[in-house]
Amino acid sequence: MSEPLIQRLRGFKDLFGEEAAVFAHLESVARDVFRSFDYEEIRVPALEEKSLFSRALGTETDVVQKEMYEFVDRSEAHVALRPEGTAGVVRAYIENSLDKTLGHAKLFYMGPMFRSERPQAGRLRQFHQIGVEQLGTHSPYADAETILCLTTYLERLGIKGYKLKLNNLGTFEERKALKEKLVEFFASRLKKFCPDCQRRFEKNVFRLLDCKQQECRKAVREADWIVPGKPLVDAGIGAASFGHFQEACDALRSVNMPFEIDPFMVRGLDYYTKTVFEATHPGLGSQDALAAGGRYDNLIETFGGASDGAVGFALGVERLALCTRFAKNAEKSPPLMIVTMGEDAFRLGFVLLNALRRLGVPSTMELKGRSLKSQLRVAERKNCRYVVLIGDEEIQRKVFVLKDMRATDEEGRQVEYDLEALMNKFLELYRNHYLPEQLSPDFLAADVAAETKKD
Ligand code: HAM
Repeated sequence: MSEPLIQRLRGFKDLFGEEAAVFAHLESVARDVFRSFDYEEIRVPALEEKSLFSRALGTETDVVQKEMYEFVDRSEAHVALRPEGTAGVVRAYIENSLDKTLGHAKLFYMGPMFRSERPQAGRLRQFHQIGVEQLGTHSPYADAETILCLTTYLERLGIKGYKLKLNNLGTFEERKALKEKLVEFFASRLKKFCPDCQRRFEKNVFRLLDCKQQECRKAVREADWIVPGKPLVDAGIGAASFGHFQEACDALRSVNMPFEIDPFMVRGLDYYTKTVFEATHPGLGSQDALAAGGRYDNLIETFGGASDGAVGFALGVERLALCTRFAKNAEKSPPLMIVTMGEDAFRLGFVLLNALRRLGVPSTMELKGRSLKSQLRVAERKNCRYVVLIGDEEIQRKVFVLKDMRATDEEGRQVEYDLEALMNKFLELYRNHYLPEQLSPDFLAADVAAETKKD
């Protein structure tokens, strides 16, 4: 009797087919956009020392207290799967002396993150983030540039209808004063809050401000010194970071980027200082945060680097995929298929396939030697736009038949080309595809020409 099938863990997903294609599309557009903003890629490990995260994110945060996948490994080291990307990037920046060699570094990353949360729509235990971090700068323009990098990316993907919210959480010093004010105000009103908030009050009073429960939202708004439309730190503590935030907002206004200021938006991670922001999308339901980020001016120093500022954001790729309209247009399959009949045709087809792929034309071919009918069926299933037909007769006449599967008129449907004309036709059809500089189509055609000349 066979063993029962081992199934994937709850909150973990297999990605394949259309969804994998959408992910690849999102990643490739991210690389394009981030490079145009002068960021370069960094890949950091998925497993780190546990203390990296507890020190960076805060020992009392939900992520560290309840959600980290942590264990003691075989060498007795306390390790954790990364719940987010920022801490690892800061560690790598310092450990590899990028603070000394690059000074100001602009890095982007993408990959899986792990949080043991209760899975629901848009919330997984292994999820993916795409993020950027700009390290070694205090400029408020860096805050604005980071936000514009996010919005340009969303624009390039055709995502509309999202809302951009900003807040100023102030410096650690300013937050101390603010914390006292909040504690004093809410202490006598604690009964009005949900049990979670009553617990949070002890550990992090700021989290009361963004609780989604109706009763808590109402109770929080009794603090009429927190003014909607004005940043939180303005709330009566005369914050010096006011100017920084103002400049970042002005930079956004100078390029007509719309945003709201929401004093109730606080973040779940402790490292933030001054500007924080969040992009939400109404299509996402209760987990509506599509991307989030902000400034973290103390983190580099905490890990032994210079006393320098930094700012970044991360997007949830699963959530991004949910609100992309373009999912249908993502390149799902190679648009060109080579269909062959007979052994000589198969061999020639294989050489042509290799030439096309080196030209950057996405193409495929059945390598199992199936019948003409079933090869065409595969082309249809893969939704291939073009089919190149090669049979004995075509080899003798040194022609290739190009079939346009979407042409409506008989004439346009099937056209014969000689090798040179075929290569030119491909270049015309796929001119936007990658063509390696050092490879000319003539050079590639030579392989195919040599094969066609064999008798
Ligand atoms: P975060 O707000 O914890 O920030 O996560 C960023 C985004 O990751 C969220 O807005 C959401 O789209 C996605 N996300 C988080 N948890 C899950 C989950 N369980 N399932 C699916 N998606 C999820 C950070 O991680 C910071 N490191 C962002 C940052 C970068 N701040 C500065 N630089």
